[in-house]
Order: sequence, then structure tokens, then C-alpha cells
Amino acid sequence: MKILVTGGAGFIGSAVVRHIIQDTNDSVINLDKLTYAGNLESLSTVSGNERYAFEQVDICNRVELDRVFAAHQPDAVMHLAAESHVDRSITGPADFIETNIVGTYMLLESARAYWNGLDEMRKSAFRFHHISTDEVYGDLPHPDEVDVGEMLPLFTETTPYAPSSPYSASKASSDHLVRAWRRTYGLPTVVTNCSNNYGPYHFPEKLIPLVILNALDGKSLPIYGKGDQIRDWLYVEDHARALYTVVTTGVVGETYNIGGHNEKQNLDVVHTICDLLDEMVPKASSYRDQITYVTDRPGHDRRYAIDASKMSAELDWQPQETFESGIRKTVQWYLDNQQWVNNVKSGAYQSWIAQNYEERG
Ligand SMILES: NC(=O)c1ccc[n+]([C@@H]2O[C@H](COP(=O)([O-])OP(=O)(O)OC[C@H]3O[C@@H](n4cnc5c(N)ncnc54)[C@H](O)[C@@H]3O)[C@@H](O)[C@H]2O)c1
Repeated sequence: MKILVTGGAGFIGSAVVRHIIQDTNDSVINLDKLTYAGNLESLSTVSGNERYAFEQVDICNRVELDRVFAAHQPDAVMHLAAESHVDRSITGPADFIETNIVGTYMLLESARAYWNGLDEMRKSAFRFHHISTDEVYGDLPHPDEVDVGEMLPLFTETTPYAPSSPYSASKASSDHLVRAWRRTYGLPTVVTNCSNNYGPYHFPEKLIPLVILNALDGKSLPIYGKGDQIRDWLYVEDHARALYTVVTTGVVGETYNIGGHNEKQNLDVVHTICDLLDEMVPKASSYRDQITYVTDRPGHDRRYAIDASKMSAELDWQPQETFESGIRKTVQWYLDNQQWVNNVKSGAYQSWIAQNYEERG
């Protein structure tokens, strides 16, 4: 298979590209605009492979999308390109509307035109896999809001959409567009909604890498509100395996929820990282002493949790990492990959991109 991966220079996209090149015989065309979140250094282990190609393209540029489809003739699309940081969506929602909604529309239209021109066999085998988030479902009851002993609900594939932030609203919109293109035009789509990811090559604006790197730099570890927000954490390589399973064996028109069965309060996550650093890089005082509490994010959802039973029952996928094994690997990775970290922190990775690539169109 030739798979067109959008957003392949991002955190999850790069894990998907590494997985496909290293663990399968398939080929990848990585289509990425290389925003601040795109980093080709995350692909240095696979970029020399003959089954890998890169196209620096904005998904909002229809002419360029059409050129890429015609030139590479993919068998499937895995669509991960997005603006992904909730805080940025609150201070500047425009890019989220543009990339996540308009960009997804452009990609759907380009894919549809290409798919219509395929012969019947390739047409029926083609897949458009849209990668989304559990945040589209909104907020779940927190344990302190239900009676003792009462079952806490989980997000299933049929949970109604109720997004809270500009980010999640833009992702919800894109999910709806993808379903409409299936229903109206017959485009063979499949959608996945996943919980919070963590792991290697994560841009340090998100909680886990931010805490690891701030802790090592002796900086404060900011916690929103009381730190009692609950997220369901999934190791990024488990997500990459799940996504490849869905694009190759998922049923057209279906949605699959992907999660790690790891509900954790943010404060517990930060404590775990501090305790691992106390063990791996000990210093006079505990890293926990660097924790500070900051004003909560507006509209902050209190709890997300995924029921991933459809993925295991129908597609035989299970996460391989527990939170304990995955977070230890992650902390170790940041300790072992100072060059990647330094280039991201200094912005050197962007100068390298500017020197080596010029965006088309
Ligand atoms: N990170 C998570 O925990 C999580 C959880 C569930 C779902 N998701 C979804 O998975 C996808 C990937 O998330 P991530 O954390 O890897 O994001 P990321 O921000 O790390 O990467 C996004 C990538 O998309 C590229 N991109 C942005 N705008 C583009 C455009 N207009 N055209 C082409 N490329 C563009 C960026 O350059 C970057 O490489 C997103 O769709 C996100 O909504 C993320």
C-alpha cells in the first residue's frame, strides 16, 4: 500500500510514519505544511528510506493537493494534519478554523476527485482515515460529582458531540464533514477518536514534555486550577499501531474510539514524572517542589475517558504499554535525546527547515 499521511511531521503523525516504514512493507507520502509543530528531525530514522517521500504542502491549497494525489497515486489517506493545542485555540482560533475545517474540506474534495478517477478495484479498496480526538465529546462527570459507588460513564462511539473549546469544536466540524462525504458521495471513510497521547518527540508545549523539560531546567511546573482534571493517557506508539490497524482492517463508515485505559488526574501525572526524575536525575530537593498552581484554562473540561472495547473486540487491538511503563520510557527518551530537545527549544529545527525547504504554492 501507498499511504498519504497528512501531518506526518507532527507528534502522532511522525510515530505513524516511523511505524509504517519500520514495521510494515508499505510506503508513505508525508504531506505536511511544517508549522511550528512540524519537525522533520522526528523522522531522521526513516527519511532516507526509499519507501518514504515528503511533500511540504498546506492542506488548504487545493491545487497542490491535486498535484500530490496525481503524482503519488496513494491507496489510502491518513489525515492527521491539524492545529492541535487547546490553549492556542483560545488565544487565536482562526488557524484552527482554517486548517481543521477548511483544510479537511479541501482534502476531502481533492481525495474525492482522485478516488472518482480510480478503476473499480482500487476505488473500492481506497480508504480516507480521519484522525480525531475524544475532546469532541465534551466533558464527562468527575468522580467528585457522582455518588459513591455510582458507575462513571465513558465515551463510546455513539456519545453525542458536545465540544467545549475552539480546538475541539473545529475537530468536531471536521468529523462531521468526513461522515457527510461518506454518506453523500460514498467516499470510503473511517474515523477514529483518541484520548490524550504522550511519548517521544512530543512538542514541549503539551503537559508531559513541558513538565519533564521544565523540571530538568529548574523552572516551575504549572498546574491548571487544582490539577484534578482527568485524562485517559495513551502511549503514542500504541496509537500509531491502532491507526494502522484501522486503516488496513477497519470497516468503511465506522467510527472507532481509541484509549489507553489510563485515567489519571493531571496532578498525579506531574507527581509521577517528578518521582521518576528524583530516581533518574536526583538532586538535593524533590522536583515536586517546583510545582506551582496557575489560573485554570477557561472552559476546561474536567474529565475524559474512552471506552475502547470496540477496537479490541472488532479489530483485536490492545495497548501494549501501561501508563507506568510508557511514562518511564518517555522520561528516559527526553533524557537520551538532548539534541532533539535543544533544537526544539532553540528553534534551530525551524531554521534547518527554512534552509532546506520552501513551501510550494
Ligand atoms: N496529541 C493528542 O493527544 C491527540 C489526541 C487525539 C487526537 N489527536 C489528533 O491527532 C492529530 C495529530 O495530533 P498531534 O498531536 O500529532 O499534532 P501536532 O500539532 O504535533 O502535529 C500537527 C502536524 O500537522 C501539520 N499541519 C498543521 N497545519 C497544517 C496544514 N494546514 N497543512 C499541512 N500540515 C499542517 C503540522 O506541521 C504538524 O506537523 C490531530 O488531528 C489531532 O487533533 C491528537
